[in-house]
Amino acid sequence: MTLYDIFMLPLEQIALKRIRKELLAKAYGNVLEIGYGTGVNFKHYHPTEIEHIYALDKKIHLLNARKMKYTVELFEGSAEELPFEDETFDTVVETLVFCNVEDVKESIAEIWRVLKPGGIFIFIDHAKPEKKQLVSIFESFNGLWHDMAGGCNLLNESHKEIEKSEFFLVERGKSNNGVLQWGIGRKT
Ligand SMILES: C[S@@+](CC[C@H](N)C(=O)[O-])C[C@H]1O[C@@H](n2cnc3c(N)ncnc32)[C@H](O)[C@@H]1O
Repeated sequence: MTLYDIFMLPLEQIALKRIRKELLAKAYGNVLEIGYGTGVNFKHYHPTEIEHIYALDKKIHLLNARKMKYTVELFEGSAEELPFEDETFDTVVETLVFCNVEDVKESIAEIWRVLKPGGIFIFIDHAKPEKKQLVSIFESFNGLWHDMAGGCNLLNESHKEIEKSEFFLVERGKSNNGVLQWGIGRKT
């Protein structure tokens, strides 16, 4: 467990686990998960709905295959330049990755490109708080956090880019303070 995991543990237990479970149950068919990390999402997919999981990360993390209920194929690559053909996937998943990527707009365009028409994009992100009092705390902590958590930006607002994109949001949720943002977009 990394320092990042230790810091994220309360958030994971209080809210993230439930949101992951709810949203990832909707994944189906050929699934691309971007930034799979330690594979925390894999236990939430429903094996009867999934054909195959393609898991991509900036750097390959080896996973314990014995724990998997379905085949997972690992790829090294970047969200901004996905190494897949147009209209390949039924579902693309990104959880807590957009806080790290350099070009969120380009990543969203890439997700749109590799999704089949009618396919869904499931996202969960943390973001800059909506409450002023919290913003200054996040601002003062962001530099240290950025170094400690592999380039993670606590003040990112990637959900706004998703809202501005061509995705039709069929589900949308956020925590009271706006720190967690999640939803499902459909490629129409
Ligand atoms: C904070 S972890 C999130 C892991 C997991 N998705 C979760 O929900 O806990 C971010 C992951 O995204 C990966 N990542 C960062 N930038 C990326 C990029 N541009 N393209 C693909 N993966 C990236 C990191 O290597 C890391 O594994």
